Formats: sequence, C-alpha cells, structure tokens
Amino acid sequence: MIIHADGKRIIGKRDFMIFGHFIEHFHRQIYGGVYDPESPFADEDGFRTDVLEAMRRIRVPILRWPGGCFVSSYHWRDGVGEERTPSFDKAWRVEDPNTFGTDEYIKLCRKIGCEPYICTNAGTGTAEEMSDWVEYCNLESEGKNARERIRNGHQEPYGVVYWSIGNENYGSWEIGAKTSEEWGCLTREAAKMMKHVDPDTELTAAALPDVDWNIQLLKSCGQFLDWISIHEYWDPIHQTNALANYGVCMSYTADLEKSVRKVRGLLCAMDLEKKIRIAFDEWNLRGWYHPNVHTIRQGRTKEEYLYPRDDNDRNSSYTIADAVFSACFLNMCLRNCDIVGMANFAPVVNTRGCIYTYDKGIVLRSTYYVFDMYTNLLGDVVLDAWTEGNKMQAFPGREGESVEAPLMDVAVTAFSDRAGIAVAAVNKDCSSGQPLTLDFDIEGDVIIHTLNGESTDSYNDVDRTEVSVTERNAGVYRRGMELVLEPHSVNIICIR
Ligand code: AHR
Repeated sequence: MIIHADGKRIIGKRDFMIFGHFIEHFHRQIYGGVYDPESPFADEDGFRTDVLEAMRRIRVPILRWPGGCFVSSYHWRDGVGEERTPSFDKAWRVEDPNTFGTDEYIKLCRKIGCEPYICTNAGTGTAEEMSDWVEYCNLESEGKNARERIRNGHQEPYGVVYWSIGNENYGSWEIGAKTSEEWGCLTREAAKMMKHVDPDTELTAAALPDVDWNIQLLKSCGQFLDWISIHEYWDPIHQTNALANYGVCMSYTADLEKSVRKVRGLLCAMDLEKKIRIAFDEWNLRGWYHPNVHTIRQGRTKEEYLYPRDDNDRNSSYTIADAVFSACFLNMCLRNCDIVGMANFAPVVNTRGCIYTYDKGIVLRSTYYVFDMYTNLLGDVVLDAWTEGNKMQAFPGREGESVEAPLMDVAVTAFSDRAGIAVAAVNKDCSSGQPLTLDFDIEGDVIIHTLNGESTDSYNDVDRTEVSVTERNAGVYRRGMELVLEPHSVNIICIR
C-alpha cells in the first residue's frame, strides 16, 4: 500500500481528549482498582500509586465517572461529607460503601493531571439534583451546596467543565429509561439549570446513532449542548463472555466510522456540526461480562449474576486483537478529528481495561501500549492522507459469514510546533507482513515503534510479558521508501 500526504492538506487539529478514559463503580474498577486504601501501594489518600503512575504515563487527558449504568440511580450526596452511609446500587445489585465520592474523584483527577468529566443521574435523578451537583463542584460559596463543599474541607471550587446529562437512558436496561419525548424535555430543563449555575460548563447528553432519538434531543436541547455522547462495544458478550477470536475481531473493523458518520450527518442536517462535537465516551472492542442484570429476568443467586463478573479480570482475554482493534478505532477518531473531540476507553482499570491490578502490582494489557504510543508519539495535526492499493481482506464474521475489511489502517499526523511526521499504521494480516510505501515530501530519520507479540493470541499477565513495543531505526527517509509492517502489528512511524 502506498500512503500519500501533503503538509498543506490537513483535516484538523486533534483534541487530545480522544485519548480519554472512563471509570465506573463496577466490580473492581474503583474499589480494589484505583482506590484501595489497604493496598501496600496506597498513598495517603488511598489511591494505588502504581496505577496513578501508569495513568500519568499514558497522559490520560480526561476521566469520565461514576457511570455508566451505575449513575442512573446514584445520588451524589451519598458520596460526600463526614458520614458515608452505604447504598444499594440497583444497577449492578451490590452495596456501594460511598467512601469514594465526588471529593475523592476530584482528588484522583488532580493526581493524574486529567480533566474531570462527571456523568449525572438522569434515570431516577432530577434536573435540580444534577444542577445541585454543579453547584457543589463549581460555585465559590453561594448557596447550600457550595457551602457544603467548603464544610467538607474543600474551600476552592473544582471548576468541573465537562458534564453529561444521563447515560444510555434510551436503553431498556437502564434504570429510569426514557422515551425520546421525555428525554428531550428532561435534558432541556437539566441543561438550562446546569448552565444557569455555571455557563462555563460544557454539556453533553446520552445519545446513539439513531435519528429519532437524536432529532428529539437536538431540537429540545441542542441550544444548550456542546457535545453529543455515543457508546459502542463491538464484541457483544455481556451475557455469554464468549470472546471473539482474532479474525472476528478484525471483521468488526470493517466500518468503524459508521456511528460517527450517522451522527455527523444529522448534526450537519440541523446546522449544528460547528456547535456540537461527538464524545464517543464509552468504547471498547469487548462488552463487559455481567450476566443476568441487563435482562428482564434477574439472576437470583450471586453465582448467577455477581461472581461471573470476575471473569472480566482474566488477562488472557486481552490479546493482540484488542490492541489492533483499538488502534484502528483511534485512527478513525483521528481521521474524524474535525467532529470527534473526545473518546473514553471503557474502562481504564480492571474489567476490560488496559491496566489490571492485583495484590502485588499491576499488569499492562495489550491495549495499554496503544495509548502509550498514541499519546506520546503522534502529532497534534491530522493530515488528509490518501492511500493506494490497500487490499481488502475477507475476515470471518461473528455469525460465520465473510466480512471484507481493509487489510491496513493508517492515520498521518504532523506537529504544529516542529517539523516531522508520525504515521499510525496497522497491519491486520494474521500471518503476513505487508509493504507500506511512504510518499511524503519531508527529510529526516525513520524510527519505527512496533507493538506486537509472537501470535495473535499473545497477551500479558502476572509474570508473563508477551506483548511489548520494540523500536528500530530504519535509516534516512527517502521519498517512496518502502517498509514492511509485521503481521498483526500496530506501528508508529516517526520521521523527523
Ligand atoms: O457494560 C457496562 C455498561 O455498558 C456501562 O455501565 C453502560 O454505560 C454500557 O451499557
């Protein structure tokens, strides 16, 4: 495949928030994950210092919290103040100790150095409760909620910019699910009150690539929104945990842009594409495994609905397939950086996340290295590159059908503050290297960073490192230079 790019033809400047993350009160993401006061790695505030360091290394720009389905019956006041009374989480059917609430979350974000992004309860919550949360976080001292923050020992307002109204309230599985008409009214009133509390907030609302839902939302609330939120998980294993193999995972890359294309089209049709950007604020190749809770018939025994969640923590589940898929997804966000301004890997710690914690340390799963490469090596300007000769490959679909997908996936970036080009290039082929010819008018040395493992099933675990990043110098760049990308590999080709 030949890839052409011209420094004068750019798509735009990518928002670094496309490398964002999500963390939910689910299984071991918070308690036993990032927050574990009993851990030997815990700092004075109970956060795991090894996890904090790993998150800083991948420059986490924004962290969405506290859910996810959890939030649709969460009342934020339960998680602030001296006395924290445990509450029963009706979404995931467990008791939440409430020892990790808003103040702990803000402290976590400060330690990571990332923006907070709070998702509010539009399930059982009200417009008033959502806007009271903005008061608690962002008002200096006016009113009871800001005064309560001060009483809790936090004199300065938190200045939380990013707020979401609701989470997947369109779905029958969500507590407090809404019709599109109900959603339009609730989001409008909540957004109005939240903006009245703090006009500097940037608001989004739960949406999906569905015209009817989004038209209602945008007609009712578009004047208040800065973002529109969508979610996607491609391997639907919530109920079965029957993880797709490498070939099927590659079939999921056939049209990663579909949801963005549909939402972009509606925003353009409503003349909103310059005002509202897309926040892809939950994405992961794999759905989370939580049988018998997103269903009408709930599991009766903990063996039926609770203990199986431990299976999300099996590190052998997260292979080269997860890394290759995730790189293709981030390349899609880069190529759509004019309208996709945020994306949040779901989640960051444990469950299907890129960091796994255990009593003696952490495991960096294959997807972690994608974020390490993309946040530390790519440029901030996305070039409008074009390719020739990208072969189409037939991959096995989930139902046994054949799915055609491009064999390679690329995004080309430049730097607004210096010369140089950095190309994110993926070879999905499960067994053969693929040639990549570079057609750029640039000078410099070529350094190739390659994320790979021995096979498509390679993974990292405790005392097992099969997936890593290697670096090699490919010499002085010559226009038309050909490189061969290893099979099933993610590469960042730096020319500077
Ligand atoms: O499987 C986890 C859930 O996926 C999140 O809580 C929700 O937002 C999405 O449906």
